[in-house]
Amino acid sequence: MTSLLLANGRVVNEGRIQETDLLITGDRLARIGAGPVPAGTRVVDLKGLHVLPGLIDDQVHFREPGLTDKATIASESLAAICGGVTSYLDMPNNSPPCIDRAGLAAKKAIAARTSFANYGFYLGATNSNLDEIRKITRAEACGIKVFMGSSTGNMLVDDEHTLESIFADAPLPIATHCEDTPLIHAAEARARAKYGDDVPMAEHANIRSAEACYKSSALAVGLAKRHDARLHVLHLSTAGELELFSAGPIERKRITAEACVHHLWFDDSGYAALGARIKCNPAIKTPADRAGLIAAVNSDVIDVIATDHAPHTAEEKSRPYFAAPSGLPLVQHMLNMLLDQYHAGIFSLETIVTKTAHNPARLFGIEGRGFIREGYVADLVVVDLAGSTTVDSEQIRYRCAWSPFEGHTFRSAVVMTLLRGGIAFERGAVSAPPMGAELIFRAD
Ligand code: DOR
Repeated sequence: MTSLLLANGRVVNEGRIQETDLLITGDRLARIGAGPVPAGTRVVDLKGLHVLPGLIDDQVHFREPGLTDKATIASESLAAICGGVTSYLDMPNNSPPCIDRAGLAAKKAIAARTSFANYGFYLGATNSNLDEIRKITRAEACGIKVFMGSSTGNMLVDDEHTLESIFADAPLPIATHCEDTPLIHAAEARARAKYGDDVPMAEHANIRSAEACYKSSALAVGLAKRHDARLHVLHLSTAGELELFSAGPIERKRITAEACVHHLWFDDSGYAALGARIKCNPAIKTPADRAGLIAAVNSDVIDVIATDHAPHTAEEKSRPYFAAPSGLPLVQHMLNMLLDQYHAGIFSLETIVTKTAHNPARLFGIEGRGFIREGYVADLVVVDLAGSTTVDSEQIRYRCAWSPFEGHTFRSAVVMTLLRGGIAFERGAVSAPPMGAELIFRAD
């Protein structure tokens, strides 16, 4: 078995930062701390660099099968490891949508051949696939995705009885997209009457309003409480919704909340320069919403930070309001974004690691990953907090080939990403074939 010693790195894990050695044997972390080193061990000196557990992004849209002009599992998982994300949970709004076991098996087969990062897949709910939902097991899916508001794809679940049954019976965590569609349709009609087809992009925050988010999130939380369901509300985007959730350690919660990096970074002042590039669902809203979300991450009301990585082509994003699809590509720069926010005093390194690695692993019961622990799989990311990363066309790995950060220089660099004990990415180059493994989810 090969072994690798990561020496002298500053290891950020489980609430503390400690300069130490990590000995990796095969795909596992064999030892934390000093000790004998087997003959033939490769030694990499990480003095001055930080080592984090590889990030687990619990919400991505890698578009396969079907929408491969936007992205593929290969292209986006490669971008993920370039940015320190070693595992991802992929959403079901594919073409065809992933709404049964055959769909899950088809996605797994693609990922087994082509994924550069470890993978898990959600089963999508519809108004008519309750039987599939009731039968699904942790060996097959990470959770049930319920679009309680319509977005990309045609997967709205708005039938009251179906929602009741999903919350009563789902055998896996329920992850919801919460926006009230009737309120959005009414706001769209008002905007069309006022502006015609060319609605100013900043109106997105009024059309996909705070009220629409609150109404739908309140419905989801109410259903979860009534049925004692395990609910994870995805991409909160308003300060108002936060009162629906409680603060505290994730282990004690049945209802958890996620924020996404773009809602923590941008506010509605960004539409002027970036237009449809930051059009997404739920919409990026006011500075007060952004500030509320940041505070909620720090007070443990929000449990997980993810990307909702949702690539569309540059041509699609150049269209006027109604024709421009929602979503933006983020998975390659998630960690850089958060490390800029560390530099700005917004988040600690420990909080970043808790929300992007420990808590997704805890929430979904991901076996052997998400922590730097002896015996765990060595999925790691090494970052240089004194480095820099300039986003340009050469640096971007997404199939869509654009980023809202083009021209921006982040104040950190991802130096190395290790996947299953092997160096998968090192100083700008991908150094291994696709090695992603299927994630294993265990019961609570
Ligand atoms: O902005 C978004 N884009 N929000 C979603 O919920 C879906 C996503 C997509 O798939 O494009």
